[in-house]
Amino acid sequence: MPQPDHSPATGFDITVDGVRVPVRPGQTVAAVLLGGGRLATRRTRIEGRPRGVFCGIGTCFDCLVVCNGEPGVRSCLRPVAPGDVIETGTVIETGVGAYGTGSDRG
Ligand code: FES
Repeated sequence: MPQPDHSPATGFDITVDGVRVPVRPGQTVAAVLLGGGRLATRRTRIEGRPRGVFCGIGTCFDCLVVCNGEPGVRSCLRPVAPGDVIETGTVIETGVGAYGTGSDRG
């Protein structure tokens, strides 16, 4: 399994909510957010409650962010790329919870 490059010389910056953040190739967006102490990635559509990384493997849809203007990107699956612009804290429709179940309730 390839290991992430931890050399600071090969790192780059991305933008998270308007702030430049240094990252390393191979990190996921979720890893960058959690490493910076950010627990909430989006808000629920009904009551605006915060949601963040839960499963970490792409199944719960709680970690959605806006990535380069595209809403609904699972931050736990998305490796960072040079020039990425990440927005958190927005209400993102997931389709989960349409029948009263799932983590998008509330
Ligand atoms: S944390 Fe569950 S899909 Fe990303």
